[in-house]
Amino acid sequence: MSDVEWNKGREYVAITDHTPYYDWEMKLHRDDRVLFLSHYDQFWGYGKHVSSGRKAYFLKCLVHDPQLPPLSREQIKQAILQTHNAEYFDAYNNYWIHHLMLSDAPRTLAYKDAILTAARAGLLEGKIVLDIGCGSGILSAFCALAGAKHGEILYSEKD
Ligand SMILES: C[S@@+](CC[C@H](N)C(=O)[O-])C[C@H]1O[C@@H](n2cnc3c(N)ncnc32)[C@H](O)[C@@H]1O
Repeated sequence: MSDVEWNKGREYVAITDHTPYYDWEMKLHRDDRVLFLSHYDQFWGYGKHVSSGRKAYFLKCLVHDPQLPPLSREQIKQAILQTHNAEYFDAYNNYWIHHLMLSDAPRTLAYKDAILTAARAGLLEGKIVLDIGCGSGILSAFCALAGAKHGEILYSEKD
């Protein structure tokens, strides 16, 4: 998709059907035309669905410039994968979801219990923990409380 040049007021064509995950997202059928209006960010554009007239956000990797050679099956597969990734990571791109996870006491306390059990078995003392997909960092905080030396955190750019 990197070959696509984005020009406001130009029409692009959907490469596949797409059922929106968000209510502000554009529903697409393969070959639908989308009038590009503006960029939201690296992944999302804002445009008008030509036949319905509805304006909405759409993932830029789901449309193609009809003046370029058509995409191969593999390129379409990659674009669909990119769509799933973008929607997945956008789901964590707000405080609300992290607050919801932290407030889910059975979930959060089960992690805390597991970490304290590991600490009682001597597995954490002086160790450096790697918290992959740390979100709020709560698991690193539990590890630090349980005696870990410190936590290295890895978070997505959307967190
Ligand atoms: C279910 S949440 C858990 C967050 C936190 N560990 C907690 O327990 O509250 C999963 C987190 O992993 C992050 N994540 C998922 N895949 C990731 C990846 N490949 N690289 C970095 N972060 C990732 C998400 O963005 C999200 O914040």
